Amino acid sequence: MDNIELLHTVPIFKDLSEKDVMTMSDKMVSRSYSQGQMILLEETMGETFFVIAAGSVKITRLSEDGREVILAMLGEGEFFGEMSLLDGGGRSANVVALEESEVLTLPRNDFLDILLTFPKIAISLLEELALRLRKSDQQIESLSLSDVEHRIGMTLVRLSEELGKIKNGNVNIHNLPYQQDIANMAGTSRETVSRTFSILEEKGLVKRDGRNLTIFDYSAFCRAFA
Ligand code: CMP
Repeated sequence: MDNIELLHTVPIFKDLSEKDVMTMSDKMVSRSYSQGQMILLEETMGETFFVIAAGSVKITRLSEDGREVILAMLGEGEFFGEMSLLDGGGRSANVVALEESEVLTLPRNDFLDILLTFPKIAISLLEELALRLRKSDQQIESLSLSDVEHRIGMTLVRLSEELGKIKNGNVNIHNLPYQQDIANMAGTSRETVSRTFSILEEKGLVKRDGRNLTIFDYSAFCRAFA
């Protein structure tokens, strides 16, 4: 997919004409990152807006005792780096490539110009920010639960919504994140995630096959965990 085709698939740019997409694409620079490479460092000044052209990233912060907390994972067609451009503060979180990834970057002034020129894009951006806030609210609720099986269950519901495909009432997630990353989303250890997966499998609620996960009877799973 070339840059122009990709920009058409980015939900917040869906209302731009072909000509406007081409103008924007001319201002964007492509950058590549390898797995685990830091793309943005928390608290540094923000000058650039990013769209993911290929691959995926995790948005993280470090807890006081140095543990990584994952706030979100974003994939192809999604954007990041808007917050510090909008409020003038430092980067609100770290952004790390989860796999080999390519991003398109847009300088701050061009990003702000687009929002001023196309109010519909500003509204789409606000819609996406509202959705992210809702997910963060759910994560705060989930992290406040003392029952770790429940926290991991809620994390799996979130991953199902973001990555899963539903078929015959079951959800399949291909490319399930690594257990350490699931642990960092759920506020627990990798060992606990591994143990909890075994318990959920014994109960017949899920089945794992490498990095594929099936959640059986997803509605019932949501009633139990979400
Ligand atoms: P910025 O603060 O410029 O740099 C870090 C980026 O991470 C931020 O912009 C957002 O794009 C992204 N980000 C921060 N918090 C969240 C979150 N809770 N969910 C999704 N993305 C986030």
